[in-house]
Parts: sequence; C-alpha cells; structure tokens
Amino acid sequence: MTFENLKNADPEVFEAIQKEIQRERNNIVLIASENYASPAVLEVQGSVFTNKYAEGYPGKRYYGGCEYADIVENLAIERAKQLFGAEHVNVQPHSGSQANMAVFFSILKPGDTILSMSLSHGGHLSHGASVNFSGIFYKCVSYGVDRDTGYIDLNEVRRLAIENKPKIILAGASAYSRIIDFKAFSDIAKEVGAYLMADVAHIAGLIAAGLHPSAIPYADFVTTTTHKTLRGPRGGIIMCKAEYAKAIDKMIFPGTQGGPLVHVIAAKAVAFKEALSQGFKDYQARAVKNAKRLAIELINRGFRIISGGTDNHMMLVDLTNKNITGKDAEETLEKARITVNKNVVPYDERPPAITSGIRLGTPCVTTRGMGEPEMVEIADIISSLIQNNKDQKAIDELSKIVKVLCERFPIYK
Ligand SMILES: Cc1ncc(COP(=O)(O)O)c(C=O)c1O
Repeated sequence: MTFENLKNADPEVFEAIQKEIQRERNNIVLIASENYASPAVLEVQGSVFTNKYAEGYPGKRYYGGCEYADIVENLAIERAKQLFGAEHVNVQPHSGSQANMAVFFSILKPGDTILSMSLSHGGHLSHGASVNFSGIFYKCVSYGVDRDTGYIDLNEVRRLAIENKPKIILAGASAYSRIIDFKAFSDIAKEVGAYLMADVAHIAGLIAAGLHPSAIPYADFVTTTTHKTLRGPRGGIIMCKAEYAKAIDKMIFPGTQGGPLVHVIAAKAVAFKEALSQGFKDYQARAVKNAKRLAIELINRGFRIISGGTDNHMMLVDLTNKNITGKDAEETLEKARITVNKNVVPYDERPPAITSGIRLGTPCVTTRGMGEPEMVEIADIISSLIQNNKDQKAIDELSKIVKVLCERFPIYK
C-alpha cells in the first residue's frame, strides 16, 4: 500500500504509519498474540466495505444495498465452517472479548458461576477477571497450573467444578504452552451439568492446521480471535452447535453490537481462504517447530521455561533465576529491537506491571520466514541481552545483529 492520498490529507498519521511499518520490519517481534496479516488481508480492511451498514445477517438485513456485504459474510461463514468443522459460525464479533461476552450473555444470568483459568496462571481478562465485565457480572472461580509441572491440573478443575457447580466451564488461555485436553474438560462439564466453552484465540491456527486437538467436537461454544496464529484481521468469531445458533446470533446483534464491520468480515473471509491452503498448514508446523527449538535453546542457556517447554507457538519464561524482572527484560530487549511482553508467571510474587517473566511466541518470526537456525541466533541474542542488560555498548552491538537478521527476512517489502 502506498498511502499516496493519506500523505497529503494527513501527514501526521501518514508518518506514524510509515514508522510503524519500519518498526514491524526492523524488529524481531516475539509477541505470541501478534502476526503479520497478508497484504491481501490488509487491502480488504482498507476497502469500501468500511462504508456499509449491514445490521442483521445475510438475507435478513435492516438496510438496503447489502447484496455484496452478504456475499463476503457468507464466504467468511462457509470458509470458517470448512476450516474448523463447526455447525454454526457467527463472524461478526468485533473482537475476542466481544465474542466471549456474547456467549456469556446468551446463556448466563448475572451472578452465575464461571469456572475458568486464572489470569495469573495464563487465563484471559475476559474469562472472569475482577476488572473485566466478566468478573463484574459473574462469580468467577479459577483453576490454575500445577506448581511443579506447569500443566493444567485437571484434578483441581474437577474438584472445583464439583464444589462450585459452575454454569459454564472455560478452557482456553493467553499464556499456556501445552496441549489443552478439551475432551477431559468436556467430561468434567458433563459430570457437573455445565456448559463447556473453549476460547481458542491463541491456538486457532494450530487447530485449523491439525496441530492441536480441536475443541469443536467437545465444546458447546468455541470462540477465537482471528488475528493471532490465524493471521487474519483483528476480530473474533463464535462457533457453536446448531441448537445455540439463534441465541448466539441474537446476542451479537442486536444484543451486544450494532452494525458489523463488513470490511473486517471480508478480510476474515480472505484469511480463512488462506488458512485452508497447504502453505498455511506448513506455516503452522514451522511456527510450532520454531517455538520448540527456541524453548530448548533458552533452556540450554539456563532459562527456566514454565512446564519445561512447549507444544504450541509460545512459551512463558520465568526470569527469577536471572535476577531481572519481566518489565526490565522487556525494556532491555526492546532497546535491541526484540519486542516481547512482560508476563506474570504462575505463582508470581510480583505484580502484573512488573512480573517475573516474559511471554515469547513464534507466529511473527515464522511468517517472515525464519526457521530453526534463526531460533538459535535469537536465543543467543536474548541470553546475551539479559546477561548484559546494564551494558549499553553490548546492547548496541546486539542491536546490529538484530538489524541484519531482520534484513535477511524482509516483511512487507
Ligand atoms: C484467550 C484469549 N481470548 C480472548 C482474547 C481477547 O481478544 P481481543 O483482544 O480481540 O478482545 C485474547 C487476547 O489476547 C486471548 O488471548
């Protein structure tokens, strides 16, 4: 995209976009929830569909002129169904959080109990955190990971489910690197008469590629974002069994949203087409391989990885033995243009604004073509930066290595 019109119309925004493009090109982005959407997906988000009001659903709109909006929404629905094998898909949620909100509002009453993974052990804000709508409206009971193994403690999930009789059990996380056993969650939900909801925002791309067991056969509701491993536009979708289709659609519109973002829905359709390709499956396999290699290389350099490794695209690094906080590590790495996020680790004694860990993910570096040899290089750079975090000269030298690495794997040429 050249932004020729924007350049004259709004030089300040134009300049910010140019700088952001440079940042995305010149940084090694290891944020597990980010990716580089394809140029086709970016183009569609900047298309004239942004002009269109299309309240309602294909064939049942509240506005005229929706015939082309219907085409792209139907394409997005059909492709998502094919990709995940879902009975029903709603592609209108503006975000992952709004997808989750619509599921909760469709089956819960204020005060009902949710059983979900604790935010401090890797869960997500919208799964019942006290500062989020989900924790304000509902009573949240949390499960976590075992202190020794770092794996979800399914015995604890079952015990809490029997004790608290939740109306819904949530499986899904923002910072968990192991396979989630959706069948085991489903057995527990059935035992206590709860709904099962899976939020697969992080692992959706892996599920689509057959690299992580699907939640579809087991969960009543499956939500996901479309912009993480799935590599589409920023947004969400809800998948559910046919029996809940009406309730979910009603709760997205008119329940919690107005007009859908047709340009984003069109971009979701494009991303789902991309995700149906063999190239996408290969990409996901490389992202997982890269994550496993990065984890091993960091462990070899004395880093503690929660659960001892990864089965997916991400890992949580506990920096306690490195005598640096997550916040300081994030800032140090950024000085050499390696972008990560600080993250609490399970049983962290530091607050979320400081943390004892960082979360690393491979979706972005894999999209730009990096492979296992580059994971070894990245582990080396991270290790040197953490070790020399007070040494500006060392940081400058490492930053030059990062620059060369980025130039070898260009993105958005
Ligand atoms: C598991 C999970 N669910 C939901 C969300 C929320 O998505 P959004 O930021 O689009 O609201 C995230 C975002 O990080 C997530 O990790």
